[in-house]
Amino acid sequence: MSIHVASITAPVNIATLKYWGKRDADLNLPTNSSISVTLSQDDLRTLTSAACSAQFTEDKLWLNGEEESLGSKRTQDCLADLRQMRQQMEQADSALEPMSQWKLHIVSENNFPTAAGLASSAAGFAALVTAIAKLYSLPQDMSELSMVARKGSGSACRSLFGGFVAWEMGQLADGTDSKAVQVASREQWPEMKAVILVVSDEKKDTSSTQGMQLTVRTSDLFQERIKTVVPQRFDEMKRAIVARDFEMFAELTMKDSNSFHATCLDSYPPIFYINDTSKKVIRLCHAINAYFNRNVVAYTFDAGPNAVMYYLQENESKLLPFFYPLLSTVEGWGTKFTAETLQGFENT
Ligand code: PMV
Repeated sequence: MSIHVASITAPVNIATLKYWGKRDADLNLPTNSSISVTLSQDDLRTLTSAACSAQFTEDKLWLNGEEESLGSKRTQDCLADLRQMRQQMEQADSALEPMSQWKLHIVSENNFPTAAGLASSAAGFAALVTAIAKLYSLPQDMSELSMVARKGSGSACRSLFGGFVAWEMGQLADGTDSKAVQVASREQWPEMKAVILVVSDEKKDTSSTQGMQLTVRTSDLFQERIKTVVPQRFDEMKRAIVARDFEMFAELTMKDSNSFHATCLDSYPPIFYINDTSKKVIRLCHAINAYFNRNVVAYTFDAGPNAVMYYLQENESKLLPFFYPLLSTVEGWGTKFTAETLQGFENT
């Protein structure tokens, strides 16, 4: 039987200005615009292969070696959009095979813990959408594909681009202006580095969708965040990135992480994503910045306790040694994060 296959990898992105809150949960339309940094494909990534054949009898998905249901509405919405895009091409060119009518088999694998607050759904949906787009030979307009990936997982839309990426929230009710755009390529600020401190690789207990709904419904602080804080920060952070102003970028990144987690704490009942170890990292980063009398490191935390820290290459050797004592004394870290793994980070 004839099978068509396409494979692709998609990287993780870590938000520096957080998306938190949906104005339309069906279409994954956000209550605020957000900004992220896409990590290198050599680090955290999803590898996805998509295959289709006239002989396949049902759509199937294998995630990290286990067969998973493809029944979620999110995934179905993505598949429906991609099939429709392919169908339009087939209607315009009768020589094309009717792939839009065929079932799909998808195999996907993460090289990092899934659903542990390390943006696995972002890389996962970005890889799913781009692998099928490649299989279908769809025109690669990344902003357009980002709108499909957004329906799978909001933050996935930002993983379609490398470097520094903005997700513009848009205004329209149908979401056709809620898409990702690149603010600056990696090459425009190559000195920017990220290190991830894996505090825990356990699955988070409040999913981001549940957490957002609770925050939107119950937090007063959240209303202030989306009305005044984030719109201003969105412009300031884009300016800091384009100007390669690390001092400003770092301050905005740390403030926004704190603001997001404050709205989680202000939800009722409260949501705790960061833990005591995360707080030690926060204190340590501020102590380091005070010691150097300028911002040399910025922390940020997604919906989990793991720290992502941004810094400039030139500061790496003076920065990382500060973390050794912490790593050796924090319970549970010794085994997961050793001097050897730190060494590895120096090469990333
Ligand atoms: O895309 P989701 O539904 O996994 O939500 C992502 C939420 C955060 O990671 C906390 C923030 C962000 O902008 O990525």
